[in-house]
This record gives sequence, structure tokens and C-alpha cells, in this order.
Amino acid sequence: MGITHSILITGGAGFIGSHLTRLFVTKYPEYTIVNLDELTYAGNLENLNDIENHSNYTFVKGDINDASLLKSLFDKFQFTAIIHCAAESHVDRSITDPLAFVKTNVLGTVNLLHVAKEHWKNDLEHKIFYHISTDEVYGSLGSEGFFTEETAYDPRSPYSASKASSDHFVRAFHHTYKLPVKISNCSNNYGPFHFPEKLIPLCIHNIINNKPLPIYGKGENIRDWLFVEDHVRAIDTIFHHGKIGETYNIGGHNEWTNIALVLELCKQMDIKLGRAAGTSEQLITYVKDRAGHDLRYAIDATKLKNELGWMPSLQFEEGLSKTIDWYLSNSDWLNNVTSGEYQQYYKGMYG
Ligand code: NAD
Ligand code: TYD
Repeated sequence: MGITHSILITGGAGFIGSHLTRLFVTKYPEYTIVNLDELTYAGNLENLNDIENHSNYTFVKGDINDASLLKSLFDKFQFTAIIHCAAESHVDRSITDPLAFVKTNVLGTVNLLHVAKEHWKNDLEHKIFYHISTDEVYGSLGSEGFFTEETAYDPRSPYSASKASSDHFVRAFHHTYKLPVKISNCSNNYGPFHFPEKLIPLCIHNIINNKPLPIYGKGENIRDWLFVEDHVRAIDTIFHHGKIGETYNIGGHNEWTNIALVLELCKQMDIKLGRAAGTSEQLITYVKDRAGHDLRYAIDATKLKNELGWMPSLQFEEGLSKTIDWYLSNSDWLNNVTSGEYQQYYKGMYG
């Protein structure tokens, strides 16, 4: 029998965090799961409607920078583990407001590390500080090669620089204070509950509404896409079986140029929406490139596969089809997050 964890998940109302929270709350009813989320524009409790009444689940609205809140949660729930997902996550926003990324991704992570270290200092056994990170810390690839766990960090956007900095602090707390940490760096995720500022949900939303599909530059940049449920299965595997102090790359060997991906999306959506073939691709509009746009990301996940036996479960076309179907049958969710109605609701509800 493993230990019965009490886990603090940060950012559990966001895209990946909500899938992770759902998985842990339903798969491990004996665990206590506390979701601490500030509910920024990206955090949405509608993502968790189906589990909000589970007896092993508690939601707390709050900022990871709030040390006294963190201490009171540690006292109350006696956490044995943290899975840290909370972050500012959108590259374009980091270009216009880098300080917001330093505040949450760097200072917030260090605050969390510090409180965990203080609380666990007399008994580090069976504790886990699991930091969720991104492949973007490794920088940008040319047309060949893959990011491995040994690839030197070379972040090039304010977002990736803030995530790289947080990864360094997590490792520093392991080396300096023996804090039992794990880190995983994953490639681009897609799937249900993805906020429609990111490429795939933005294009799904715009195709439904016959709006332009903005392609940065020539659309030749390459991303390595992984279905979000495969990512959270990997997190589950690493959380329970990964080694303390280790880093694991997560990815599905699934590289697409942005233009090829959007054409596939258009093709599938024409069929699902009953439109003539070729209709949606007429919405494609080339726009000014993103500043400092990384050319290519591609993950080598051999370590995770060989050491822990994780494999992605879905082919991309199938995952994309599932994702489109989810957005088409959850138009209320999409309308709420795009109308900003849900943010007004939170203001009224939480101040
Ligand atoms: P997201 O933007 O959808 O969600 C982030 C969540 O964090 C939101 O619920 C938000 O309210 C919360 N949050 C933000 N600032 C906070 C603060 N100061 N205190 C408490 N909560 C706060 O992000 P995501 O796409 O789900 O990403 C989750 C994590 O996974 C991030 O650390 C990101 O860097 C990493 N990641 C994301 C991807 C991807 O493709 N989305 C890929 C690899 C790694
Ligand atoms: P995004 O979903 O923002 O993820 P990331 O920048 O973290 O990889 O963007 C994915 C790719 O799509 C990236 O190369 C930028 C590009 N892109 C567009 O071409 N148009 C858009 O409107 C967006 C949001 C992204």
C-alpha cells in the first residue's frame, strides 16, 4: 500500500490543472485534494463542475504569493505533496506584460517552495514537491533534433524565461535544502477546457463563428502536440513512480506546422459542421509574426517511456476530433469564457 496523500494542487481551475484535479479526485478517493487557484481570466470553476461535490475535494480561491494563506492551508490539511500547475501560461501575454509572469511564475513558485520547506523541514520523508513545467525552457530547435532532459536551457520569451527561472529555483531547493522535488517538462497540450486564446481552441471558436484564423508569419513554426489527458496520466505516473530530484520530458512525437494543423482542423470541422470541403480554410489569414517566435519544439520522451512505461494513448487526428466534438457540444462554456460573463460572475461571487 502506498501512502495516503493530502495534496495541494495549484492552478487546478486552469486547463491542465482541471484535468489533473479531476483525475486525482476520482482515481484516488482516499486522497485529500485541495485546489488553490486565484481564478485569473484563465481559471474557471466550470471546468470542475462534475467533481465539485466530491467529499475528498476542496476549492480555495487564493494567490500562491500569499504566504500566510499557504501556511494556514498547510496547518489545516497537513499536505504530503504539492503539484504546482499555477502559472501565467500564454506567450503573447508575456510579451505585453512580462512582470505578471515574474510575479506568478517566479515569485509565486519561490514562495510556495519556501513555505513547503519550512513546513516539511523536520520530516521530508514521503513528501513530494512536483513542479509542472514546459518544453519551452529549452529554447527553439532547427529542423532537426529533439529536446532531452540534458538539453541546456535557452528560454527566449518572457514566458519561457519565467518558467526556466522557476525550474532553476525548484532544483536549487532540492540541492540546498534537500526538498524532495520532481519536475516534468511537457510539449504543447490540447483538449477540452483549453482557453480560446491558444491556437487550437481559438481556431475552433473562430471557425464556428466564421471569423478569421490568424496565422503568425508563414505558419511554418512547428509544435509537438499532446492530448491533455495523456499529459495528466504522465503526471500521475511521475508523481507515484518517478524518482525524487529527477526531471522527465513528456511528449508524443507529434510535430505539426501551424498551417498543417489549422488545415486539418478546417477539414475536420467542415465535415462536422456540414459545410462544403474547403469552406473553413478560406478563413485562414496570415498576420504579423509573434516577436521572437520560436521555430520548433520537439520532445524526446524516451526516459519517461523506458523508466516508467508511459506512452501517449491517442493519435493526433483522433484527439483533435474528440476536442472539436467537446467544443461543439459545450457551446455554453465557450460562450461564457469568450463573453467575459464568467469573470463578472467571479467578481460578484468572490469580490
Ligand atoms: P492555464 O493558464 O490554463 O491555467 C493556469 C491556472 O493558474 C489558472 O487557473 C489561473 O487562475 C491559475 N493562477 C494563475 N496565477 C495564479 C496565482 N498567482 N495564484 C494561484 N493561481 C493562479 O495554464 P495551463 O495551460 O493549464 O498550464 C498549467 C501549467 O502547465 C503551467 O505551469 C504551464 O507552464 C504548464 N504547461 C502548459 C502547457 C500547455 O500547453 N498549456 C504545456 C506544458 C506545460
Ligand atoms: P500557442 O497556442 O500560443 O502556444 P505556444 O506559443 O506556447 O506554443 O501557439 C501555438 C503556435 O501557434 C505558435 O507557434 C504560435 C502560433 N499561433 C498563431 O499562428 N496564431 C495564433 O492566433 C496563436 C494564438 C498562435
